[in-house]
Amino acid sequence: MSTIPEQNPLLELSPQDLRAHAAAALTRARERSVALTDAVDDEDLVRQHSKLMSPLVWDLAHIGSQEELWLVRDVGGREPLRPDIDDLYDAFQHARADRPALPLLGPAEARAYVKEVREKAFDVLETAPMEGRRLTESAFAFGMITQHEQQHDETMLATHQLRKGEPVLHAPEPPRAPARKLPAEVLVPGGRFTMGTTAEPWALDNERPAHEVDVPAFVLDTTPVTCGAYVEFLESGGYHEQRFWSEPGWAYRQEHDIVAPRFWHREPDGWWRTRFGVRERVPENEPVVHVSYYEAEAYTRWAGKRLPTEAEWEKAARYDPESGRSRRFPWGDEEPTAEHANLGQRHLRAAEAGAYPAGASPLGVHQLIGDVWEWTSTDFHGYPGFSAFPYREYSEVFFGPEYKILRGGSFGTDAAAIRGTFRNWDYPIRRQIFSGFRCARDPRPGEAG
Ligand code: AVJ
Ligand code: FE
Repeated sequence: MSTIPEQNPLLELSPQDLRAHAAAALTRARERSVALTDAVDDEDLVRQHSKLMSPLVWDLAHIGSQEELWLVRDVGGREPLRPDIDDLYDAFQHARADRPALPLLGPAEARAYVKEVREKAFDVLETAPMEGRRLTESAFAFGMITQHEQQHDETMLATHQLRKGEPVLHAPEPPRAPARKLPAEVLVPGGRFTMGTTAEPWALDNERPAHEVDVPAFVLDTTPVTCGAYVEFLESGGYHEQRFWSEPGWAYRQEHDIVAPRFWHREPDGWWRTRFGVRERVPENEPVVHVSYYEAEAYTRWAGKRLPTEAEWEKAARYDPESGRSRRFPWGDEEPTAEHANLGQRHLRAAEAGAYPAGASPLGVHQLIGDVWEWTSTDFHGYPGFSAFPYREYSEVFFGPEYKILRGGSFGTDAAAIRGTFRNWDYPIRRQIFSGFRCARDPRPGEAG
């Protein structure tokens, strides 16, 4: 069976429209970086809020440093601005925990640096060819650097969540779910589908190439697991029953004495959480967030289910049963709008389970894109035919069994940095990220038709 061609609106753009598209994406990313760093004072910018994170001022200058490397020096062929600081902002030279001790640029210097780099990058963009070289084909390097900045913006948002003190970030509430009863699960029919992409111009190396995968029929929850459902697991003693936990999961739970999602606290009147400095009751109908892979896995076993594999997740998110084609998003090939998904830090929380009906898949699976990252049971590996591009340190050096794949993006992820093929990864113990999950299971006899 041959692969059905992908469709992609970006491929229709003229070089001038591509440049405008890239410039707008870069500008939106920068507005977010500025908002996240201007929200706190200089002391907070240079402080390390958690051993897991860099100081915000490191993220900011690192964003500029990557942009200088790829857009100014490589694509533009221009002279280095600050060759002396390359090493400081090379993520592979210094662990996050060690970054505060480095002679980093201060807040004012970092701001001036990223501004100067951006001016040069825009200068390069004006005349950069949009074809000829793989790095500039369809403005790939500009898309890569946009996504890099947006990824760090999500990391900085996670740093904000770890920060102690009064709230400094504010956003309107996400939309409520429409009043109607969704089926809890849907059957995704078995068969081959196209996973990954070749055509998506700004897809990163690990999403490539498109390839056929046979995914047997499976049943998937129509929404992510909610806090209310998670409380039932918790209250029924799920954190204390080893049988629900994998061996490494139980060891981790024991060692760190984990008894609830991160940022949750037990009060006499129930469960509360801290969200960007606000203490609030755990919302019943909102997807649970800040759980590790091991906790997600234990919940699914308690529920008599399992996590979806990465291929199952992508089939649910992209496969259109009517055409047999894999699309870019659950709703089709159009870029996400505010009607489709909770993305872009427009809201500082997930929306209720069942929200965003316009973003549901043809089979009625909701919120695959946005709200919370979803853990899958798959380890991070390259697809058949993978080749590292443009540098091994983006993905390839992380391939192996120590990382689990997360899919779909969160309320903290920008639309430019998510799509049906996008692959995120992290250690199974991590929960400072905006991670949740949904349940899958095998069909019962007779259920698969
Ligand atoms: C894709 C989110 C795992 O933050 O480690 C940022 C993204 N890579 N700078 C990470 C990334 C280089 C990466 N993740
Ligand atoms: Fe980075």
